[in-house]
Amino acid sequence: MKNKIIAIDGYASTGKSTLSKKLAKYLDYIYIDTGFMYRAITYYALKKNLFIQTNINCSKIENLLNNSSFSVSKKYNSLLFNKKLLGDEVRTIIISEKVSKIAMLKKVRDYMVIQQRALASKENSVVEGRDIGTIVFPDATKKFFLTADQSVRAKRRYKELIINDPDVSYEQILKNVIKRDHEDSNRKLSPLKRAKGSIEIDTTKLTIDQAFDLIISNL
Ligand code: DC
Repeated sequence: MKNKIIAIDGYASTGKSTLSKKLAKYLDYIYIDTGFMYRAITYYALKKNLFIQTNINCSKIENLLNNSSFSVSKKYNSLLFNKKLLGDEVRTIIISEKVSKIAMLKKVRDYMVIQQRALASKENSVVEGRDIGTIVFPDATKKFFLTADQSVRAKRRYKELIINDPDVSYEQILKNVIKRDHEDSNRKLSPLKRAKGSIEIDTTKLTIDQAFDLIISNL
């Protein structure tokens, strides 16, 4: 029997991660956070100085991909990168400002799609990202597309980031949300767009519980 896949795509800070995690727990599915995968590669690319101003050393990125692996930790309801649990270090504003550059590279996207399909081939999965319902799993069991006003999303992100980074400002985050929306939606490869057959949920005025109930009622 084919595994079930729930695809949850949408813009940054629409509540995708919280809702996908909660849904995976509720259904006892594995949770595959594909944004984490792009962030982990970006984190290590920065650590290894593979960004030369705005350019990226592509042959070294290939090397990094060849030495990378992702696995699922059911215990932590999370992905591991090279068997390591990464946390807030991949969610900083610095990573958010660089990740779109990595996510637009063909080699990176091709690699990610293979990894994501392999991870979801093992168990029923909730898969969260930007291109899950369009490219990675166009035949997903259910597809959701999350949106919300940019200023509300920036406020949500600000509340999360200010806890660990007192220097971060709301304006900086709003600028990043606007820029990432633009870059994610306008890149040549696998741009963020609503998948055919997806259910759109605007979370601007919804609490997490209200959005979650809406998802459950549409399963
Ligand atoms: O969901 P997130 O904010 O953690 O994702 C970080 C970035 O990764 C996002 O700006 C674009 C990229 N991404 C992507 O291109 N495709 C995906 N399936 C998931 C994320």
